[in-house]
Amino acid sequence: MKILSIETSCDETAAAVVEDGREVLSSVIASQVEEHKLYGGVVPEIASRRHAEAIVPVVQKALDDAKLNMDDIDAIAVTHAPGLIGALLVGVNFAKGLSLSTGKPLVPTHHLRSHIASNYISHKELKPPFMCLVVSGGHSHIVMVEDYTKMKVIGRTRDDAAGEAFDKAARTMGMPYPGGIEMDKIAEFGNPDAFEFPRPVVRDAPYDFSFSGLKTCVINLIHNMEQRGEEIPREDICASFRSAVVELLVSNTMKACEDYGVNTLVVAGGVSANSLLRKRLGGESQKRGINFFKPDKSVCTDNAAMVGSQGYYEYLSGNIADLSLNAAATLPIDYR
Ligand code: KG4
Ligand code: ZN
Repeated sequence: MKILSIETSCDETAAAVVEDGREVLSSVIASQVEEHKLYGGVVPEIASRRHAEAIVPVVQKALDDAKLNMDDIDAIAVTHAPGLIGALLVGVNFAKGLSLSTGKPLVPTHHLRSHIASNYISHKELKPPFMCLVVSGGHSHIVMVEDYTKMKVIGRTRDDAAGEAFDKAARTMGMPYPGGIEMDKIAEFGNPDAFEFPRPVVRDAPYDFSFSGLKTCVINLIHNMEQRGEEIPREDICASFRSAVVELLVSNTMKACEDYGVNTLVVAGGVSANSLLRKRLGGESQKRGINFFKPDKSVCTDNAAMVGSQGYYEYLSGNIADLSLNAAATLPIDYR
């Protein structure tokens, strides 16, 4: 079964063709990041306009690259939630129009479930059940993935997402958006023990995260140094901050694996590209005899191939929408 998939939840206009949930026949991404860099973050109004300009050529290229036309496609999957509402609406309305004009079924797909599915592309043998740490620019969740479309949230952030914490700390040091990527690179040259950042625990919620205190702490540190006219030791700050965020993510995730007795752990979302997080989760899993899976770096951040993968399993589970489908800025990962 061939699925044409569409992703417009944030600042990437993406389309792909995926066969049977695992085989990527084409994947096209038009990134707007250079334009948003000028403003230090995503400007929703600009994102929507760029999606509207890019959606037709991006979808056409996905079909062309796969050497297919719409007659060869069996279903259309589209990210309908969560994300920037104006951005999501471009993809959802385009998919609805395409579904109406071609008669192909329309499959609404949750963005975070798609991030999890990026692992099905990278690891053909991976099947639920497993525990998954989903860490992106907008979300940080520990999820028990019982089946492809059945999941339970075990832990979540109480405030900022991990990616957001990276981006804001990086922005304070004048690093370009999205700062998480840059911070990860610079951290390699610094001392992770140079600064002691707080590692908050959420009382009575051992799997929940809180990153806002950590973020405020690094921002205050930088501002105080600037006021004293000191040079900012970027490498050491990046290394110490990265280490604090990663240790929080790793400790709660490993505790969840132990308490729930799972032997398979998966990481997903943009922050899963972080080199220290990948290394630390791999190492801790190995110590406990847990099989650890991480997506190829090429599918960690937003793309439509992962939507085509999750869309396949949504389709098989009967998640098919009619033309009343709407976009939603928020939607729990365990919504159905
Ligand atoms: O999943 P994603 O592409 O978009 C959302 O759904 O939010 O995630 C983007 C986030 C950004 O916050 C970005 O800074 C972060 O992922 N990110 C990283 C790395 N690569 C991307 N954070 C830390 N280290 C990285 N290597
Ligand atoms: Zn994402």
